[in-house]
Amino acid sequence: MATEEKTEQQGDGAVATADNNTLSVTDNRTGESYDLEITDGTIRGMDLRGIKVSEDDFGLMSYDPAYTNTASCRSAITYIDGDAGILQHRGYPIEQLCEHSTYLEVAYLLTFGELPTKAQLERWSFDVVHHTFVHEDIKNLFETFRYDAHPMGMLLSGVGALSTFYPEAKHIDDPEERYMAAIRMIAKVPTLAAFAYRHNMGLPYVYPDNDLSYPGNFLSMLFKKTETKFEPDPRVERALDILFMLHADHEQNCSTSAVRAVGSSQVDPYSAVAAGVAALYGPLHGGANEAVLRMLRRIETPDNIPDFLQGVKDREERLMGFGHRVYKNYDPRARIIRDHAYDVFEATEYNPLIEIATELEKRALDDDFFTERKLFPNVDFYSGIIYEALEIPTDMFTVIFAIPRTSGWVAQWMENNDDPEQKIARPRQIYTGYRDRDYVAMEDREGPEKITGPPARRPKRQRRGAGAWGGGRAGR
Ligand code: CMC
Repeated sequence: MATEEKTEQQGDGAVATADNNTLSVTDNRTGESYDLEITDGTIRGMDLRGIKVSEDDFGLMSYDPAYTNTASCRSAITYIDGDAGILQHRGYPIEQLCEHSTYLEVAYLLTFGELPTKAQLERWSFDVVHHTFVHEDIKNLFETFRYDAHPMGMLLSGVGALSTFYPEAKHIDDPEERYMAAIRMIAKVPTLAAFAYRHNMGLPYVYPDNDLSYPGNFLSMLFKKTETKFEPDPRVERALDILFMLHADHEQNCSTSAVRAVGSSQVDPYSAVAAGVAALYGPLHGGANEAVLRMLRRIETPDNIPDFLQGVKDREERLMGFGHRVYKNYDPRARIIRDHAYDVFEATEYNPLIEIATELEKRALDDDFFTERKLFPNVDFYSGIIYEALEIPTDMFTVIFAIPRTSGWVAQWMENNDDPEQKIARPRQIYTGYRDRDYVAMEDREGPEKITGPPARRPKRQRRGAGAWGGGRAGR
């Protein structure tokens, strides 16, 4: 939310003064009028509670499924103005950060609020580099997953498991423990992500190489084979670092809100961040770049692009990787990654899907249907095709998204913990069920013989006898 603007500018462009910074409402049930204070373009939800029909009335609540018009916190980390295509971290435009910074520097900025001095960055980078290894038992844990386990599920378990290796992280108000948790998560998530990938590929896990940069080390853990030392292509390394910067934080989205809500119970930060990983796992959050690849595969050849675009205009198809809920202008992140995407294509082997993607982008940007609706490529269009060019399987895309978002989650977790206005997250509900029913004896109950729907079905693997009820290892 554009906080600074909202305090000065009201909906119709009128300038607010100290006197008119209130909302007057009349409750037509009682005829009573109330003045609610407007601060930063918001009214306080709790101010509604005073609006009652009687002394013993609970008071008015607001109903906002999916919190589409509710600010859940005050935050000084990330500012987005979707109409203007602006994204800033701690006030710095993403364009400048991507031009001059590295991901590790941006992670520091998000966590501590200021760009690091040379000495601070050296210390921060040293600490991250020296915590990239995970305990061998985490490796053993990963080895117990099925060969085809989704890497995001493995990452989720890995991050959750870290909390058991660092129980001291429960001291969430101890600055030293917080610092170590931030360092450990930022350092170890790439290792967990790469181990999950190698597990899926049936390849031995590659230990971190602390001589390499943060993205270079990740590429080494993914792709190193028999060579003594992996040497990342600098174009790919930089493109990955830029992608990491672009995905580091995006204010109060689903996963960040999950981290804040779970963290508000004062659980350790590893468990709170695991909640963020779980939220990101969902196809509506982290999955759009996978959809881009599925779309490109369906198009099959550049010759099919005109027909495909016609299908989009006829509303039979959706051009995945175009358009954005917040950015009604060019997604600033897409503009930044575009050129680096072409660097990656130069550095990698020919891939026909890249040809389809570039031709599709060109034609859509030349087409009035898309320009009139302000449908431009979003960051997922390019991240998907960069990963494809690197021959990274689509299951890994969300995992790679989670690597940089870890610093955003950690920063937001810290901010939430330090906010004196925050408490354990506890929304209200509008109860729609029965009330005051008398218990029905078993013999008097009625209902269909067969229970339908998912809860009654055992998951497939358990039915095959390998799971909790099947006498396999998990059953013991
Ligand atoms: N392809 C074709 N038409 C589109 C598309 C698209 N990708 N996106 C929007 N439109 C049309 C839409 O049909 C509507 O047309 P009309 O006014 O004639 O009915 C118009 O453009 C305005 O769209 P909207 O429905 O108001 O846009 P929205 O804000 O509800 O949807 C969106 C945003 C991202 C869900 C949508 O653009 C979309 O589905 N894009 C494809 C999926 C995608 O790439 N998602 C990733 C977003 S980036 C995620 C991140 O930030 O990390």
